[in-house]
Amino acid sequence: MTFFYRCYHFILKCIITFIGIPNPRLYTGYSGFEQWLKTWDQNAPLLVVSDETLFNLGVLEHTLALIDKHKVPWHLYIDVLPNPTIDNVENGLSLYHAKQCAGLVAIGGGSVLDCAKMIAVRSVKPKKSIKQLKGLFKVLKKLPPLCAIPTTAGTGSETTVAAVINDPKAQTKYAITDFCLVPSDAILIAPLTQSVPNFITAATGVDALTHAIESYIGKIGTDFSNQQALAAIKLILNNLSTAYNQGDNLAARENMLLASFYAGQAFTRASVGYVHAIAHQFGARYGTAHGLANSVLLMPVLRFYGEKIFPQLADIADYCQLTQAGQSTQTKATILLDAIEQLLLALNIPNTLAEIRTTDIAEIAAAAMKEAHPDYPVPTFMNHAQCEVIIEQLTE
Ligand SMILES: [Fe+2]
Repeated sequence: MTFFYRCYHFILKCIITFIGIPNPRLYTGYSGFEQWLKTWDQNAPLLVVSDETLFNLGVLEHTLALIDKHKVPWHLYIDVLPNPTIDNVENGLSLYHAKQCAGLVAIGGGSVLDCAKMIAVRSVKPKKSIKQLKGLFKVLKKLPPLCAIPTTAGTGSETTVAAVINDPKAQTKYAITDFCLVPSDAILIAPLTQSVPNFITAATGVDALTHAIESYIGKIGTDFSNQQALAAIKLILNNLSTAYNQGDNLAARENMLLASFYAGQAFTRASVGYVHAIAHQFGARYGTAHGLANSVLLMPVLRFYGEKIFPQLADIADYCQLTQAGQSTQTKATILLDAIEQLLLALNIPNTLAEIRTTDIAEIAAAAMKEAHPDYPVPTFMNHAQCEVIIEQLTE
């Protein structure tokens, strides 16, 4: 069976290497947004997609003022829920058509960005429902311009090929994956992340760290994805605890946005691994926040991989300048693992999750194995029993 999985991973790597995934144009700061606005046709209305919380907190104010300054007509859609639904997408699409919009600006976390991506998708696939679009390469069309402005540093959705939409009636989620879902433009504006509470800064930051590490240690990394992963990990190790302890530190905030973007570029090409496979089950079953679930699982899963990933961990440690000449691969790997553990401690990440019921462990492990195999190009395979052991470690 594992031979079949590796064949599948080889095919994935060929697709990613030879077809290539587009990158958004990258801008930074409000000045970057103005630069983007200067390229926009003043007769082409924009749909600004966000959520009510960000709107009420005043997070959108300056961005909207800049759109006005550049005399671009805009219409606001802020009904996106934390787990965006099919109705959120369809209502946004109705407004997009009613106002004859020609592009979108999405300002928010991963949910807002995913919803905006799917409004853009549905605008070019009017006859296909979101359910019909789930899976790989069902869109295959150029989308209208989408300017993605993340307000958290973690998901990397501003540069990824996927969107996840909830169907509350069927009590399920649909993941839509297609290269055309990569937004045309990404703008990283550090002041927009200043008001993010520190525990969310920690969890989303570790989500980005997990994207970078899982993509780097996996089997289908390319030169580009590996380079982006390394850059992300170094930025996170050097900036996350500062962003956590000093929310107003704009340099740390900007570095974390950049790290999240790089990590997004890495994992959208080289995928993720068992940390995500298990974390998604905690999210689905208990509503555990994605970043928190990853944070709790990161060390146990890395320790499970053991010496199989020591060479990659040693590379990362070297790149982050944590090592000295002459140290063994094992020593370097241990230095990196210790650095990650210290970071998690500094971020007050717990070692356990109170919501895990021991009676659920077998089902969670089964669902995680189903998600991981064959899709995730993990460095070494885990079986059901080993997965159960990891989950058991997280119970109180
Ligand atoms: Fe993630």
